[in-house]
Amino acid sequence: MVSYKELGLVNTRAMFAKAVKGGYAIPAFNFNNMEQLQAIIKACADTKSPVILQVSKGARNYANQTLLRYMAEGAVQYAKELGWKRPQIVLHLDHGDSYELCKSCVQTGFSSVMIDGSALPYDENVALTKKVVRYAHRFGVTVEAELGVLAGVEDEVAAEESHYTKPEEVVDFVTKTGCDSLAISIGTSHGAYKFKPEQCTRDPKTGKLVPPPLAFDVLKQIEKKLPGFPIVLHGSSSVPQEYVDIINTHGGKLPDAVGIPEEQLRKAAKSAVCKINIDSDSRLAMTAAIRKVFTDKPGEFDPRKYLGPARDEMVKLYTHKIVNVLGSDGKAK
Ligand code: G3H
Ligand code: 13P
Ligand code: ZN
Repeated sequence: MVSYKELGLVNTRAMFAKAVKGGYAIPAFNFNNMEQLQAIIKACADTKSPVILQVSKGARNYANQTLLRYMAEGAVQYAKELGWKRPQIVLHLDHGDSYELCKSCVQTGFSSVMIDGSALPYDENVALTKKVVRYAHRFGVTVEAELGVLAGVEDEVAAEESHYTKPEEVVDFVTKTGCDSLAISIGTSHGAYKFKPEQCTRDPKTGKLVPPPLAFDVLKQIEKKLPGFPIVLHGSSSVPQEYVDIINTHGGKLPDAVGIPEEQLRKAAKSAVCKINIDSDSRLAMTAAIRKVFTDKPGEFDPRKYLGPARDEMVKLYTHKIVNVLGSDGKAK
């Protein structure tokens, strides 16, 4: 058993309480590799932003769970080397799909886990979440749960259409499970294709797709039912058009990719939404930068020469999210 405390990590409890009160959101960035992790830590150390490092089941399979655990430990030390005296870093399991997986993460140094029972019938979601909470809380590990189903692909859980969270269920769910935060569905979804073109309108000037607005009325009702309770938004990448354009003009093919407009995320960050999940935007930044090097310098074959620019681009992206979208800069001095 390795406790997250030994690794210099923190759980989400105090971080979320501060964020809800302060009207900002904590960035939850997924990582699978060293360059993403370096970029996240650099951006957070530079801006003194608390951060949640997210590891999906897929990331654990890709990078090896033991290695990821040591990388997170290394991240705390790296943050200190960069001059961040008291790093506020959470290591979080993203979309945990079983009690066993959550338990194994608690035992290997994660400070927070998500149990995603959103695709299960309500009572089964309650029972599974409650079981994970009971175990995780014994070790001070915080638990995120989910009610409502996002459209698109939730890790390996496919949902054809989005089912908004029912505000009338949230008090019962949170009371029965004892979860520490709740992911809700208000129209966001995973990946770079969040909306079908027929769900969008077209900007007559640019011809670009304009997605439908998030269901802020549902969020408001949830906030009323659970005053001050930490709410989480998954699927919150904005799919920056400049990255899509670079990818498409350098041999890639991402037709009609569309994300959540940043002004909507800014609005959400000021509410009880205190954790905003971003993965796809980092993938796009990395891919755009690598494609550009491959096109501009076809003779290049030193991975540092394309992964380096990709890492620089991700630092820019993460810094932008922290400072201009989530407002978490300066909150972990
Ligand atoms: O919510 C999904 C995350 O973006 C993780 O995706 O399962 O491909 O690692 P992944
Ligand atoms: P995006 O695909 O919008 O980046 O969402 C990531 C996410 O929700 C991870 O859990
Ligand atoms: Zn997610």
